[in-house]
Amino acid sequence: MSIQIKGTGCFVPEKVLSNQDLEKIVDTTDEWITTRTGIKNRHIAPEDMPTSDMALAAAKNALENAGISADDLDFIIVATSSGDHPFPSTACVLQGKLGMKKKCQCFDISAACSGLLYSLDTGANLLRGHKNYRYGLMIGAEKLSYLADWKDRATCVLFGDAASAVILEKVDDGSDESCLLATDLGADGSCVSLLLHPAGGTAIPVTAENVDTHENALNMNGPEVFKHAVPAMVSAAKTVLADANIPADRLRWVIPHQANKRIIDAVAARLDVTEDHVYVNIQNYGNTSAASIGLCLDELSRSGQLQKGDLVLATTFGAGLTWAAALIRW
Ligand code: ACO
Repeated sequence: MSIQIKGTGCFVPEKVLSNQDLEKIVDTTDEWITTRTGIKNRHIAPEDMPTSDMALAAAKNALENAGISADDLDFIIVATSSGDHPFPSTACVLQGKLGMKKKCQCFDISAACSGLLYSLDTGANLLRGHKNYRYGLMIGAEKLSYLADWKDRATCVLFGDAASAVILEKVDDGSDESCLLATDLGADGSCVSLLLHPAGGTAIPVTAENVDTHENALNMNGPEVFKHAVPAMVSAAKTVLADANIPADRLRWVIPHQANKRIIDAVAARLDVTEDHVYVNIQNYGNTSAASIGLCLDELSRSGQLQKGDLVLATTFGAGLTWAAALIRW
């Protein structure tokens, strides 16, 4: 039996917020944002569009790409830090919106920007572990514009809204292969305070006061997160290459999490991978957290820049702190 990528999809809201637009909202400049992050534009979902609507659009896009229907799915995993509700899961909401007759298992994964790779790893193992499972849908969906502190220039310029989707298929072909040749996932819970959405849970319930002090908005120590991001992404990437015994010069694409162009460049340099093998779309979307890796995969696939058999290394990093890398055979 083998595990294969059957389809991909994405959804990006129509409204574009440019660096020039941000100059009118906070004390910033296009020059600062471009040179410090590589971001030019990000997309912002309308107020009345919850994360599940973006996930729904990405899911439909991926189902069409895979040529299967929602009722073929055996599970749905949504990776998100900005779900519709504290509970139930956005995956359950999505199943309802897909109008599925098959009541398959649905759950969310909270691993911030590492969420889609965590989901792919979990999804491949679900397919392996359940005899009758054939298809799984993994989504990374974020409405970070809702969590952002629009008065904090150090964070609000970084994030964008989007959803991406990957469908995995288990094929009974007598082999024992997986499109995920190797994965490496980790977390460091001693660094929780570096990047979090402090209020709104049981630790710090929302009050009128902490709404005023922006505690119910995303809070990040950017320079400290930066310091952790590069070594963690590089180490996870090197681990999967070593585990699969694949040298970096055989990679068609390296897809680093799109958080900051300077992080992307540092990761590529330390992996000794040249620019033409590193996929970058941060200029168009900003950091879309869990949606980021899938957005890159879908763009590469639909633009014909990925051929069957190509080797792709995705490596990512996010709140938690969490990190993950996956070596994928397309
Ligand atoms: N416009 C203009 N000036 C700014 C802005 C802005 N938007 N933001 C910060 N500055 C100023 C600061 O106030 C500071 O000024 P000072 O020197 O007078 O004090 C100066 O620019 C430098 O600020 P730094 O925070 O040191 O800037 P840095 O170069 O580190 O860039 C950034 C900040 C972009 C946030 C960077 O640290 C970064 O990308 N960090 C990693 C983010 C990341 O990877 N997150 C993980 C995933 S996110 C998730 O999981 C949801």
